Amino acid sequence: MKKSLRVLIVEDSKVDAELIAHEFALDGYEIKWERVETPEAMKKALEKRKWDIVISDYSMLRFSGLEALKLAQDKAPDLPFILISGVIGEDLAVEAMKEGAHDYIMKDNMKRLLPAVERELKEAVIRCGKEKAEEELRLKNNALESAAEAIVIANAEGEIVYVNEAFSGMYGLNADKAIGKHFSCIASEDPSMQSALAALQKDRMWDGELKSCNVDGIEFDVNLTAQMVMDGKGNPTHIMGIIRDITEWKKAEGRIKHLNELHDSIRSVNRLIAREKGISTLIKHACENFVKTTKYDAVWIALLDDKGSVTKVEKAGSGISFLETLKEVENNNKLNCVRKTVKTDRIQTFEDPNRDCPKCTFRKICPGRMIISPMSYENKIYGTLAISHPEVFTPDIEEKKLLKEVSDDLGFAFHSIELEEENSKNKGKLKESLEKVQKFLDGTVKALSSVVEKRDPYTAGHQKRVAQLAVALGRELGLNDERLEALRMASLLHDIGKIHIGAGVLNKPTKLDELEMSMIKTHSTVGYEILKSVDFPGPVAEIVLQHHERLDGSGYPEGLSAAEISLEAKILAVADVVEAYTSKRPYRLAYSFDDVIKKVSEERGTLYDREVVEKCIKLFKEKDFSFSN
Ligand SMILES: [Fe+2]
Ligand SMILES: [Fe+2]
Repeated sequence: MKKSLRVLIVEDSKVDAELIAHEFALDGYEIKWERVETPEAMKKALEKRKWDIVISDYSMLRFSGLEALKLAQDKAPDLPFILISGVIGEDLAVEAMKEGAHDYIMKDNMKRLLPAVERELKEAVIRCGKEKAEEELRLKNNALESAAEAIVIANAEGEIVYVNEAFSGMYGLNADKAIGKHFSCIASEDPSMQSALAALQKDRMWDGELKSCNVDGIEFDVNLTAQMVMDGKGNPTHIMGIIRDITEWKKAEGRIKHLNELHDSIRSVNRLIAREKGISTLIKHACENFVKTTKYDAVWIALLDDKGSVTKVEKAGSGISFLETLKEVENNNKLNCVRKTVKTDRIQTFEDPNRDCPKCTFRKICPGRMIISPMSYENKIYGTLAISHPEVFTPDIEEKKLLKEVSDDLGFAFHSIELEEENSKNKGKLKESLEKVQKFLDGTVKALSSVVEKRDPYTAGHQKRVAQLAVALGRELGLNDERLEALRMASLLHDIGKIHIGAGVLNKPTKLDELEMSMIKTHSTVGYEILKSVDFPGPVAEIVLQHHERLDGSGYPEGLSAAEISLEAKILAVADVVEAYTSKRPYRLAYSFDDVIKKVSEERGTLYDREVVEKCIKLFKEKDFSFSN
């Protein structure tokens, strides 16, 4: 394969240039060449294209070989430059070599040209490689020096051989002072350094956090990534460490942890708010919760009355003598911090009691470093929440915001508890007055009930006993309390309409004739008329109206059928007839219990509701029901 070559020929003789090109072609080169004979043309050619070599005539009419050499050195310093001359003497040739020409060839000895070119091309490659390596080294060095992380390199014995600028800045130690120290000097008596060195020997690398210390004795946290550097045979030759100052990061991490703890604490307080029903237990548990879940030294909550005087204090925390004085606060209310917080209704910071509360009675024993937040809801301040925090951190805006939020949550809780207490007081009063109304209604019902019975001594106590049986039946049939109460009242008053019937008819000792019977039958309608305008808790008047209706439509006053009669009226009908049969009447004796059962059983499904009758039999036979006076 032909070797390709780009040759710039500086020659004012076209023929000589072609001869040179011919020499290369003879030797198997595929050459691309250009002839220039002026500085401008040479400059242009050097700028336009990349050349492998420059071959220049020593003396030309308008240009000289030495000028061409200078131009080549200026434009392409690494480009091999060979002078050719027919007239050059020894002295001039040496001079040209001193100036930087790589070789010179006499025109009568052109066979030297190609070996000289090949040699120079090889040397140019070596020169170029060396420069490249030097450039690479410079780049690496610059990169190490300008790295933001501190970089330290020690030999296999751990003796520091290199530190970069960032290292010097971080430790306050110049390179000449750092070099020669042991690698372990980057940690300040941190036992983790020993583990790091052991891990380096074993695993060839270590990554972790260490406590460091600069020349002024100031401690800071670092992250060290250390690695063994190996030679081509895999033997460790050096240790390289990259050190990052993580002090600020650690601070931020601590801050985030603290805020997370505060968030958790606030969540717990909100759970307490939802659970606790009393203000005293709520504030006690809230204080305990804050101290338990955060880094606060102490927490205290003061409740205030409408005049801003402290009415109650709860506290939690340890080792703060100040807390002992809070009992006194309850009595004399002279705390400047509480007063200031209430006055402004804003969160207040107290870092130094001498500066912030110069007139406070408790200034000398106050821990200082306090934040006090008002606990308010709808413009009412219920009290103050105070936290005493350790010196190592200062609560920032976000923390204050969270504290204000939880204070207001507590304010809202106090408001809700007060409202709840008020409501239950009102509920008690309402219950009392309802009971009074119920008692009054009961008395009225009983009085009305006795009016009719007074006129008819034979039925005395009838309605009361009917009510006993009807309510027992209603309960068996699953009526709720409201329906049972309406059934009880209707039973007690079901014959109230008899008030309208003359005593002669009511007390007649013999059987009633048709006219008298029709008079008696008006009592359910009259009863309804009397009761319908009374606002009973249920359809009392309607039950009374239907109590003589029968399933087969044979009853009165309307002759309703089974589906049209209410369950309460069906129950009352059975209770009424059973009580009446078991009692003596002016015109007959009382039936025996078995006869009564037989009579109603025969009429179940025709006159009386089947289920009501069955429940009635069960009550007497299985549940020992009996009338009481
Ligand atoms: Fe009746
Ligand atoms: Fe009756």
